[in-house]
Amino acid sequence: MPNIVKIGFVGTGGIAGAHIKRLVEIPEAKIVALCDIDEARVKAAADPLGAAAYTDSAKMLAEAKLDALYVCVPPHVHGDLEVRAAQKGIHLFVEKPVNLFMDDARKAWQEIKKNGVLTQSGYSLRYTAGGIQLKNFLADKQVATANVVRWSGLPGVPWWRRYDQAGGQLVEMTTHQVDLLRWVMGDVASVAASYSFNRVLKDEPNVTVPDSQAAILTFKSGAVATVNTSCALGKGWGGGTEFVIRDAKVVWKAEGCQLAPEEPKLLPPLPLETPSVDAAFVRAIANGIPSMLYSPYDDALKTAAVTLACNKSAENGGALVKLDDFLGEL
Ligand SMILES: NC(=O)c1ccc[n+]([C@@H]2O[C@H](COP(=O)([O-])OP(=O)(O)OC[C@H]3O[C@@H](n4cnc5c(N)ncnc54)[C@H](O)[C@@H]3O)[C@@H](O)[C@H]2O)c1
Repeated sequence: MPNIVKIGFVGTGGIAGAHIKRLVEIPEAKIVALCDIDEARVKAAADPLGAAAYTDSAKMLAEAKLDALYVCVPPHVHGDLEVRAAQKGIHLFVEKPVNLFMDDARKAWQEIKKNGVLTQSGYSLRYTAGGIQLKNFLADKQVATANVVRWSGLPGVPWWRRYDQAGGQLVEMTTHQVDLLRWVMGDVASVAASYSFNRVLKDEPNVTVPDSQAAILTFKSGAVATVNTSCALGKGWGGGTEFVIRDAKVVWKAEGCQLAPEEPKLLPPLPLETPSVDAAFVRAIANGIPSMLYSPYDDALKTAAVTLACNKSAENGGALVKLDDFLGEL
């Protein structure tokens, strides 16, 4: 009989549904309580699971005996939830971006550290076959440069359109690719960015996020990378993430990376199946194996900081922002 991890959720929208779908297949996981400010939505999620439904997260944290909490709220809602859960010794899965505000994120991290709870964030590319393959393949190689392009449309949720709630596409979405760069290229030393606001999407209601964003990342290793992202594409998706190493290019794909330009070929397959980001979280708690957590809170905060530093740069005419200063003491 496995150790059972009793799980709660705050936020039962789109991404919570994806986590729930995977968690119900994991024998060590039991979802016991869910909370959302939208009563109909939380009941629709909780009833099929036989779980308790709440509209007040403080009440849920006080009543439900949780081992772990998934925080799946929009980016601007983070902070207090993580602090209160950590103070109760509840392990935390925090969706990306972990916060929009550095002071709040640092406070949450202090409580997490003080209370010794395990953490995982939603940077799920680290758990794809391609993510692990890339990490293994590049471990003994120098990356010369990388380029990220991510072009798509506006997601359907209203908060996403608002710069003050979502932080813009680089902070909210392309953060996945920035995290992949950090995963294999290490910490970022500085960023400079330039954004275009209210230009091609000016006819769209309530849009305050930039419609295109370009950033230059300089890593502590000395490597440089570029990120170009836009939410003006409407339907469809364009882009990719590529790395240059000596005499070759590595093209990232979730299912398996490709090596070029010689005869393009897949990198060697992985020997073992990779656990999902959720299975890793639950099993790390059930079996006490923190090393299964590839994306703990403090590391996810560093990725968020890179993208928020890009916002600061763009808001200041493209001025260089140094990450050590921006991140502060963790
Ligand atoms: N890891 C991934 O691949 C991935 C994919 C999609 C979304 N996300 C992230 O997940 C987060 C949520 O995205 P989503 O698409 O599920 O959004 P959503 O709008 O579908 O769901 C968010 C839910 O949070 C609820 N909520 C808001 N404030 C609340 C509060 N104070 N207390 C309780 N509930 C509250 C809303 O009512 C809503 O139901 C975002 O940060 C997003 O970036 C991650």
